[in-house]
Amino acid sequence: MRKSSYRVAAGLAVIALLAAGCSSDKAAEDTAATEETVAADPQLEIFTWWSSGGEALGLAGMESVFKTNNADTEYVNASIAGGAGVNAKAVLTSRLEANDPPDSFQAHAGMELDGYVKSGKLEDLTDLYKSEGWDTIFPADLIKTLTVDGKIYSVPVNIHRANVLWWNPATATKAGITAAPATLDEFFADLEKFKKAGITGLALAGNGDWAIAHLMDYILLASLGSDSYEGLFKGTTSWTGPEVAAALKNFQKALSYGNKGAGNLDWPDAGKLVTSGKAGFFIMGDWASAQWQSEGLVLGTDYTWAPAPGTVGVYQWLSDSFTLPIGAKHRNAGLAWLKVCGSKEGQDAFNPKKGSISARTDSDPSVYDDYLKAAMEMWKTDRLVGSTVHGVNGNNALMAAYNTAVGKYFSGGFKDNAGLAKDLDAAYMAGQA
Ligand code: GAL
Repeated sequence: MRKSSYRVAAGLAVIALLAAGCSSDKAAEDTAATEETVAADPQLEIFTWWSSGGEALGLAGMESVFKTNNADTEYVNASIAGGAGVNAKAVLTSRLEANDPPDSFQAHAGMELDGYVKSGKLEDLTDLYKSEGWDTIFPADLIKTLTVDGKIYSVPVNIHRANVLWWNPATATKAGITAAPATLDEFFADLEKFKKAGITGLALAGNGDWAIAHLMDYILLASLGSDSYEGLFKGTTSWTGPEVAAALKNFQKALSYGNKGAGNLDWPDAGKLVTSGKAGFFIMGDWASAQWQSEGLVLGTDYTWAPAPGTVGVYQWLSDSFTLPIGAKHRNAGLAWLKVCGSKEGQDAFNPKKGSISARTDSDPSVYDDYLKAAMEMWKTDRLVGSTVHGVNGNNALMAAYNTAVGKYFSGGFKDNAGLAKDLDAAYMAGQA
């Protein structure tokens, strides 16, 4: 239907309600919502941290679906570079505090989203879920991570996997490595093989701290196992006890195989060390694959993957979602954007380029590469455990303190394990405040 006919329909609905003498607030609100959903706004401002290769291409995929459906609205890309939102989140916080929100912003499912809801920044989207049929299309457990006090607050565009091991088969062959390490012991044995072959074992990106924290988050999971790892965020596993101490020894050991000068590198730079044969392994979320494909590299030939060692059968997940901030200047356009975000068309335009799987249960596997097809299967059968650095386990306060603690440890030459454990404990507490 054309937009003008929507407006006529909304107008007729108002007249019908008036004629029926309907004066309840609920009915008036429903009518307003219907009308607002359909009027075209001149602009739409979308706020993310997606600016590099695959991230930007994925976003552009959704943008083009939006433009097709909303030709009268100018799309404004307000992305701020910096993986995991390390730079974007600070800008977003000050904009939200100044009541100057974008029309929709990226937020992770889980405790990160919970933080925005509890501080009163987001509109309730439960009715949109009903009208779009999303309450039956997204997995119920995922919807739970978007729900606070029975109301749903964001639209998930994807599922990413954090615990993935990436490497370049040619480099591995040089070091005499023929199969993916399945356990932490095998991982360390292979890191030693790279070292003996004169190759840096592990690619590290220290800029912004989060990618080192991402590595630690995976090593905690591999060392503690899923239940104890989850206990860290429920208060049932101690951050300063022997389990974490043993895990941090593994982390310290892994870091000792890292590249020099990592402090200045972003995650795409560290990824290049692997694809160019300068480093062996890379522990990174599956957005790495999309990044490499955007650079013209080929999955299975130039690089390959396996579940990160010690976490086979465990899917450390995260989900990017989009919100409707209270006070958005172009609320109708924001709603139109969310409809694209939740649609099959939008998700299948976004995810193959972004390196993630669709959050919907009815996406078309044929448009996804072999890695993503495998991920779709594992997402259904693996044990699901949340990512800390990407919003599932803790709010922004926890994440900021978690990253800072790891950054301090790393830049200090990764010596003070007891100090790190204490700082992580304090980070957990910061998230509870
Ligand atoms: C994550 C985000 C991913 C990816 C990654 C690196 O937090 O969920 O979509 O962009 O950061 O920037």
